Amino acid sequence: MNPFRFGTIVEGSFFTDRVAETEMLKQKLDSENHIILISPRRFGKSSLVQRVLSQTGRPTIQLDLQYVLSVDDFASQLLKAVFKLFPMRKVRHAMSHFRIYPIISTNAVTGTVDVTFQPTVNGSVLLEDAMALIEKITSPERRLIVVLDEFQEVVKIQKGFDKQLRSLMQRQKNLNYILLGSQESMMEAIFEKKKSPFYHFGQLIRLQKIPYDDFHNYITERLAYNAEAVAEEILQFTSCHPYYTQQLASQVWEMMEYQKIKDDVVNKAIVALVSMHDLDYERLWQNLNRTDRNTLRDLAENKQPLQNRNKATSTSYSSLQRMIKSGIVIKTTNYEIEDPFFNQWIVKNVIQ
Ligand SMILES: Nc1ncnc2c1ncn2[C@@H]1O[C@H](COP(=O)(O)OP(=O)(O)OP(=O)(O)O)[C@@H](O)[C@H]1O
Ligand SMILES: [Mg+2]
Repeated sequence: MNPFRFGTIVEGSFFTDRVAETEMLKQKLDSENHIILISPRRFGKSSLVQRVLSQTGRPTIQLDLQYVLSVDDFASQLLKAVFKLFPMRKVRHAMSHFRIYPIISTNAVTGTVDVTFQPTVNGSVLLEDAMALIEKITSPERRLIVVLDEFQEVVKIQKGFDKQLRSLMQRQKNLNYILLGSQESMMEAIFEKKKSPFYHFGQLIRLQKIPYDDFHNYITERLAYNAEAVAEEILQFTSCHPYYTQQLASQVWEMMEYQKIKDDVVNKAIVALVSMHDLDYERLWQNLNRTDRNTLRDLAENKQPLQNRNKATSTSYSSLQRMIKSGIVIKTTNYEIEDPFFNQWIVKNVIQ
């Protein structure tokens, strides 16, 4: 079986490194503090949190705010998660405070629970009741962990939602929140701007790429031929981005294993992956304005655009900010194109 995996949460033998991060998060969860974890997309936030959660063995509720449409939707998703965690007979008595009782239906075949409210009711009442339930079902012995993914969406769901949520969260005891986000500037605004309701709500942790040496070992152990040199070439191309490294390593492994390719296998794998995404990249490029295209061209040529004195720095800066927001560019130690294969597509089609 292919020893590399990408696109899903990774665990077990597919998971590497993050030893210090795992320890740190576990220590923080042993206190009354909350955690805010930020990184660009696909750096491994969910995988890390999953690992930590499974090691703590504590009850957990996880919601992705991307898929929450309104305040009452948040309340009903929260309740659904509670019913998944605890049998209904245990929860029912804890719901005596509910001012509006939800309609709860169970699918007899799948066992899934659905929660709906009368469409006319006031969302903030539902939210208060659902959050009070969370407080009731957690205890000092079995402290609940609530993970809210893509948390930056909190400001988009409904006006005033962030403020109300914060004031309810603030009062809860015996639980920890882990708030994840991939839109760094929005997450920073939420947690670091004095006027924001979530100002200094918890400790902000930035997840980095996986260190070179660990990733190098991980790849080397899983390749049968010329492993060290191949691993180095892979990491050079992906600059240790967790997802793209696994993707390229996976492709290399397949080409070695099934097509018995030995020579220049990393470059062949890159060519295959770039051409697989050719249409997506073309569409992406077509939707960019001229300034952004120039910025990307500079980045692909490995020039840091802000140092390019021929250009008006402010245009270049706002172009970078725009593309960071849309996820095309990320800022690590440098500005870089998030997807190294898109970078390669630009080199192939625009520069050469
Ligand atoms: N610790 C790790 N060891 C090995 N590979 C990893 C690790 N963490 C992440 N990856 C790789 O990166 C991919 C994305 O990981 P994950 O889904 O956890 O990231 P994420 O930051 O939650 O992404 P998103 O922003 O899309 O929610 C995984 O499928 C895997 O290929
Ligand atoms: Mg994730």
